[in-house]
Amino acid sequence: MYKLGLIGHPIGHSMSPWIHEKLMEQQGIEGKYELLEIQPDEFDEKVNLLKEKGLDGFNVTVPYKEKIIPYLDGLDESARHLGAVNTVHHTNQGWIGYNTDGRGFVHSLKNRFPDLFHENSKALLLGSGGAARGIYEALTTTEINRVDIANRTMKRAEHLIQDIPSKAHAGALTLEQAKNTLMDYDLIVQTTTVGMNPDHDQMIVSLDHLTKGTVVSDIVYRPMKTKFLTEAEKRGARLHFGHEMLLQQAVYAFQIWTDTDPESSLLLDEFEQKLRGV
Ligand code: ATR
Repeated sequence: MYKLGLIGHPIGHSMSPWIHEKLMEQQGIEGKYELLEIQPDEFDEKVNLLKEKGLDGFNVTVPYKEKIIPYLDGLDESARHLGAVNTVHHTNQGWIGYNTDGRGFVHSLKNRFPDLFHENSKALLLGSGGAARGIYEALTTTEINRVDIANRTMKRAEHLIQDIPSKAHAGALTLEQAKNTLMDYDLIVQTTTVGMNPDHDQMIVSLDHLTKGTVVSDIVYRPMKTKFLTEAEKRGARLHFGHEMLLQQAVYAFQIWTDTDPESSLLLDEFEQKLRGV
């Protein structure tokens, strides 16, 4: 009987319980995945109580992905590089922190667009927050050899590139520069919250210079098809959706906790229907 959960604030609308209960069903595993909401002023007390709850593992979301680190006994390489944890596993060496966000992104992208992954491919990330860091780290370990980052505050993009060691070529751009050079990229990833409900009519940059066949990805999954993706589709882009990443990062967490190998593609249609109904 697995005891799993999610800590964060606010988490009332989280899709994680649905995903993990479906994965347990698929794998014939018994267990429970609970929402463990923690108010910011009681973080220390509640996290220490978690240790007594006998959880096998839990996910960590905003705003605690960094704050959880001092409470852990070890970190995987990705969590250490990023300074952020989204998955904690209770092992006999204690609580070990992982970050499955970037890996989830890359896996879901590679499944759909394997042709992107070669050394002449060029990627552009829009944004430089926590999500961008994870995606940058994971993308730069693939065959893709150039990953540029554009951000409203260009300095943050420069810092991100300096902070995360990588073998890929990388450069920082302003959003204006990015907008004018979209045609140079094979993959464009929108990593900010711009376009998320209720501000679904917003777009981080105009897509006038986008060319046909480019893969355009948006990590926002509410709405499922953002304005950014809708406009990209009108220009002949191939689309990659935020919920595909969300599902795959959960599958990786589930694998860590249960040592099973679930198949996310079996769940994708059902997950899309569920999201449309929310
Ligand atoms: P998180 O760590 O959760 O990703 P964050 O650190 O606040 O969140 O990062 C949010 C990202 O969205 C940043 O890249 C931010 O740009 P700045 O670094 O210039 O603040 C970007 N962002 C948020 N609102 C934006 C907007 N209206 N236009 C452009 N970029 C925006």
